[in-house]
Amino acid sequence: MIPIAKPIIGEREKQLVNEVLDSGMLAQGPKVKELEEKFAKLCGVKHAIAVNSGTAAIHAALYAIGVGPGDEVITVPFTFVATVNPILMQGAKPVFVDIKPDTYNIDPEKIKEKITDKTKAIIAVDLYGQPFEVKAIRKIADENGLKVIEDACQAVNAEYSGKKAGSLGDIGCFSLYATKNMISGEGGIVTTNNDEYAELVRRFRHHGQSEQTRYEYHDLGYNYRMTDLHAAIALGQLEKIEEYTNTRIENAKMLTDGLKEVKGIAVPVVNINVKHVFHQYTIRVDGYKLTRDELKEELHQKGIGSAVFYPKPLHLHPHFSRMGYKEGDFPVSENASKKVLSLPVHPSVTKEEIKKIIDAIKC
Ligand SMILES: Cc1ncc(COP(=O)(O)O)c(C=O)c1O
Repeated sequence: MIPIAKPIIGEREKQLVNEVLDSGMLAQGPKVKELEEKFAKLCGVKHAIAVNSGTAAIHAALYAIGVGPGDEVITVPFTFVATVNPILMQGAKPVFVDIKPDTYNIDPEKIKEKITDKTKAIIAVDLYGQPFEVKAIRKIADENGLKVIEDACQAVNAEYSGKKAGSLGDIGCFSLYATKNMISGEGGIVTTNNDEYAELVRRFRHHGQSEQTRYEYHDLGYNYRMTDLHAAIALGQLEKIEEYTNTRIENAKMLTDGLKEVKGIAVPVVNINVKHVFHQYTIRVDGYKLTRDELKEELHQKGIGSAVFYPKPLHLHPHFSRMGYKEGDFPVSENASKKVLSLPVHPSVTKEEIKKIIDAIKC
C-alpha cells in the first residue's frame, strides 16, 4: 500500500534524541531553545516559542492577542477542528466564513458581512500547505482593527510574496504532529515579531509564570511545554526541511502533469505569488466516471492510500450546529467536503509510485 502519510525518522533524529537521553535533561531545555532559534530564522521572525501541539499553539496565540469571553473570532468551517476549539477554550465565539472553491482557503469577500463590534481576530488557515490571501485579509484586518492569527499548522516553509508562513499574520501557529511536513511526534510552535505576544505565549505555556521569575503567577496558564526529546526530533527534521519541501513540490508537479487532462479531475490551484508546500495534494472529483468515494475505494483496491480532508465541514457537526449553524450556510465548504480527495505526495513516495497513482486514475 502506498500510504497517504509516512513519518521519516533518520539516524540524525535518533542521534539527537540519544543526546537528550544521555543528558538526563528530558523536559524543556537546551534543545527546545535551539529549535526555537532555528525555527525563528526559518520563518524570518523575531520569536518562535515551542509548545506541545498545534492546538496549544493556537490557544496560546488567542490568549496573547487578548481574545477572551464575549469576543468573536472569524474563521472557516473547512479545516481541522483544532483551528476552532481553542476559540471556545478562551470563552470566545467562532464565527464561520466560507472558503474559495479553487484554493479552499478563506474567502476575503465574505468576511466583511461577519464583522461586528465584538470581532477581535481572524484565524486564516494555510490549508493543505497553501498560504491564505494575505494582502486582502491584512487590509480587512487593518480597516477593522482586527488581529490576524495564521494557522500555518500544515504550511511549514510555505511562502507568500517571498515571505515565509508563520510571518504572514500578527502571530503564527505550527503543528509538528507525526504526519506533518516537519514532525516531532506531537508538538507545536508559535511565531511572532511582537515582543509582548512572545512573552505572553511563554507564560501561557508555563502556568502563567514568566521565564525570568519562576513561582510568580501572572495569569492563568497551562502546561503546554515541549520536551527536549521532541525538540531533538524536530531539530533533525529542520535540517532536511528544504529537501522534504522540494520533493513534495516535485511530486505535486508530476501528479498535476499526469492528471490535469483527466475529465472530471480538478488538480490543485496554486496562486501565482505563493509557494505551496503540499502538506496535502488534493484533487476535486467532479464529473469523473466514479464518485469521489468510489474512486477512493478503487485506489484502495489498487494499493493506493488516499484520504478526505475533511468529510464534513465543522458547522454540520453537533458540536457547532448547536450554535445555530445548518446545512446550506456554507455551500462552498459543503460542496468541497463531498468532492475533495488527497493523494500521496509525501517525500517517501517514489516516482514509480506516482506513475502508478496517475495510471490508476487515468484508466
Ligand atoms: C489546520 C490545522 N490546525 C490545527 C492543527 C492542530 O495541530 P495538533 O494536532 O498538533 O494539535 C492541525 C493538525 O493537526 C491542522 O491541520
